[in-house]
Amino acid sequence: MSRVVARGPGRVNLIGEHTDYNGGLALPFAIDRGVTVTAEPLGGEQIEAHAADIGERDEFALAGDDGAAEGWRAFVRGTVAELRAAGHAVRACRLTIEGDLPHGAGLSSSAALEAALCLALLEDPDVDRVELAKLCSRVENEHVGAQTGLLDQLAVLCGQEGHALRIDFRDLSIEPVPLALGEWRLVTLDSGAAHEHAGGGYNERRAECAAACEALGIASLREAASAAGLPSPLDRRVRHVLSENARVDATAEALAAGDLREVGRLLGASHASLRDDYEASVAEVERTVAALEAAGAAGARMVGGGFGGSVLALFPPGATPPDGCVSADPGPAARRL
Ligand code: GLA
Repeated sequence: MSRVVARGPGRVNLIGEHTDYNGGLALPFAIDRGVTVTAEPLGGEQIEAHAADIGERDEFALAGDDGAAEGWRAFVRGTVAELRAAGHAVRACRLTIEGDLPHGAGLSSSAALEAALCLALLEDPDVDRVELAKLCSRVENEHVGAQTGLLDQLAVLCGQEGHALRIDFRDLSIEPVPLALGEWRLVTLDSGAAHEHAGGGYNERRAECAAACEALGIASLREAASAAGLPSPLDRRVRHVLSENARVDATAEALAAGDLREVGRLLGASHASLRDDYEASVAEVERTVAALEAAGAAGARMVGGGFGGSVLALFPPGATPPDGCVSADPGPAARRL
């Protein structure tokens, strides 16, 4: 093994939030910002890891993840453990992690890190990307303690430059949708409220969706025809998931028709549903949405797991996004550099 450098991009989900773990639809894309992992071979049986941006280190035996690590260390140890469990050879090495994707901003620094680690550590990186996404998701579910779905990992590992991906989580089929924005611009603005998946509202919403499935006698909310008859708040959670799936296809149609005004309207409708029915917003996110709308956005909505993180907005030609906004352009999938 020689020195390997791998890049995992972050992602923005255009629309289709909290649908992945409900067998639903989403329309994410990989972005330019991301995480870079450099792996340099070492003798022995150890992994040394250095999170360069925050000046922290870790060192552990290849053979052992004792499950006690937290934060970024849990991702590194968990990735090594899952790669080995899946039968991949992992050699002793020194890992250097750096990036330009803020943690907790809802742009999936987690999936960016998992994907970059995998591509840096794999002897042969030419593996099935959907299987790799599942492996990355196990790192998060079983080693980090966040019951997240597959949205982020699929976006980051299967993304296509210039496209969003219509993902159907019922069968994990992926269809690239051209993101032809012309003079329109997609931007993100950090709300300043950091979110954390391992704990808090995210896992609670997942549990509510599971409870709704049980009450309806179905395996996945994709099979639900309506939210009628469910007790509150389960009825509102289901209403969000059903209406959000419909908005994903409406957005893909509006993009195909070049109707960006309609895409903006759908982003706003998604946000209202996430705020009122899914109750996944917080005051900082509401203030950020309002600031973007006041600046002329055609639509703005929270992205990712919610309870903080970034807001995505679509600006028409001629409008000026407020200070702090960063362009969200669809970039390439995770790759070796
Ligand atoms: C987070 C999770 C994803 C998905 C989104 C909400 O980003 O990692 O799996 O559930 O929240 O759409």
